Order: sequence, then structure tokens, then C-alpha cells
Amino acid sequence: MSELNLILLGPPGAGKGTQAERLRDDFGLAHISTGDMLRAQVAEETELGRAAKRYMDAGDLVPDDVIIDMIIGRVGDPDAADGFLLDGFPRNEAQAEALAKALKERGRRLTGALLIDVPDDVVVQRLAGRRTCVKNASHIYHVDFDPPKHEGVCDQDGARLVQRDDDQEDTIRRRLEVYHSQTEPLIAYYDRAGLLRRFDGTRSADEVHDHIRATVATLRLEEEL
Ligand code: AP5
Repeated sequence: MSELNLILLGPPGAGKGTQAERLRDDFGLAHISTGDMLRAQVAEETELGRAAKRYMDAGDLVPDDVIIDMIIGRVGDPDAADGFLLDGFPRNEAQAEALAKALKERGRRLTGALLIDVPDDVVVQRLAGRRTCVKNASHIYHVDFDPPKHEGVCDQDGARLVQRDDDQEDTIRRRLEVYHSQTEPLIAYYDRAGLLRRFDGTRSADEVHDHIRATVATLRLEEEL
């Protein structure tokens, strides 16, 4: 069977993690989130985690050499052999080139780059109200748009919900600046490669999911032809 190798693009708070969780289940893909991997390293107080934390807290990108090695290794893991969904990588052209080179060396290629588009004011509103589960960071809520059944408690495993350290307004603004200057150029990069698919991220999470799922199903059919 052919592989579905996908990238999720979009500003912070666009809903990449929210959609990745659903698409992983729809299509049996490995969900690879650089942010979650880095936060796990921070929590375990590894050398990499300590080095990454100051960049993350400031809203800046962690240096490429750290990230590229981490992701290229992860994409080669057995659970990603039939397809993966990258969430938060690549974030600049150097990372995109490194990914393309590593895939080519392994006889693989990207199937699509899925852009979830939302304006900056929506980003600020979403991130200020986001809460994530301490036990499993891919369980994501919003105090107004997607509240848990019991305040402060994860519906799925009963663990505590917390606010991310980088979801403070100043840091959110810095992350947006970094997105516009360093990551947004990848939209044109993947458009030129014929891989870009755009989605209106201001719709409800269910509507965004329906649109992306239909597009990915078509991409899969095209791969199988
Ligand atoms: P990372 O964790 O990747 O953060 P991000 O890209 O800023 O994205 P977020 O996780 O904040 O947002 P999201 O799009 O996943 O939105 P979510 O689904 O949670 O990166 C963090 C840091 O790590 C970076 O700043 C950097 O320092 C470092 N890093 C990571 N990758 C790196 C790389 N490749 N290179 C260098 N450094 C790297 O949704 C947000 C909220 O909105 C939630 O509350 C959710 O419930 C709600 N919501 C979602 N969809 C909808 C909807 N349709 N309608 C209403 N509400 C919605």
C-alpha cells in the first residue's frame, strides 16, 4: 500500500494539534509533533530539553541542528513506515530542504502539505484559552470553544488540565512574528512543489476536520492509482 506522508502547516493556534489527533485515527498515521517531543524533553530535564526551553519560553525557534536530527530519526521509526503526519515541522526552508533530502535518500516523498489558515487575532484568542492534559499533551481543550465536561479535568483520562508556559500574550505575539517571518514562506515553497492544500481554520474544528479528511482521502486515492 502507498504511503501518506503529510505536513501540517499554519500559525500557532491554528488547530494543527487538534486536527492531527483526528487525522491520525482516520488514516492510521504516526503523529509526529515537534512541540510535544520538545516539551517531553523539557519535562524529563534532558540536556536537549534544557537547551530548548529558553528558546521555547521566548517564542523563538529551537536551532535547526537539534530539531532536524530529532525529526529525521523519528520519521524512520517503524510506526511511521506506512505514513506520517508532521505537526510543527518544517518551520523554515532549511528544515524543509533537510526533510526532502532525508526522504529522497530513503526512496520516500511527501504526499501533501496541509495549511490551516487563521488570522492573528483568532490565534491570540485561541491560545489564551487553550488547556492541555498533563498526562497526554495531544488531549487539547479550550475554555470557551471546546471546554471539558468538568472544569480543569481531562475528559479522556481524568488528569489535570494546564496552560502551556508559552501561551502568555507576549510570547504568543513573538511566536506569531516568528511564524510570519520564518515559516510562512513555506506556503509558497510547497505551492511551487504542487503539494499545498489550503483550509479555512476559522470554521469549527468539526468542519475543518471534514474538509481535511476529504482532501486526504483524495490524496490517498491518487497515490494508489
Ligand atoms: P508547537 O508546540 O509546535 O506550537 P505551535 O506551532 O505554536 O502550535 P500550537 O501547538 O501552539 O498550536 P496548534 O496549531 O497545534 O493549535 P491547537 O490544536 O493546540 O511549538 C512550540 C515551540 O517549540 C515553538 O515556539 C518552538 O520554540 C519549538 N519548536 C517546535 N517545532 C519546532 C521546529 N520545527 N523548529 C524549531 N523550533 C520548534 O489549538 C489551539 C487552541 O484552539 C486549543 O485550545 C483548541 O481547543 C482550539 N481550537 C482548535 N481548533 C479550533 C477551531 N476550529 N475552532 C475553535 N477553537 C479551536
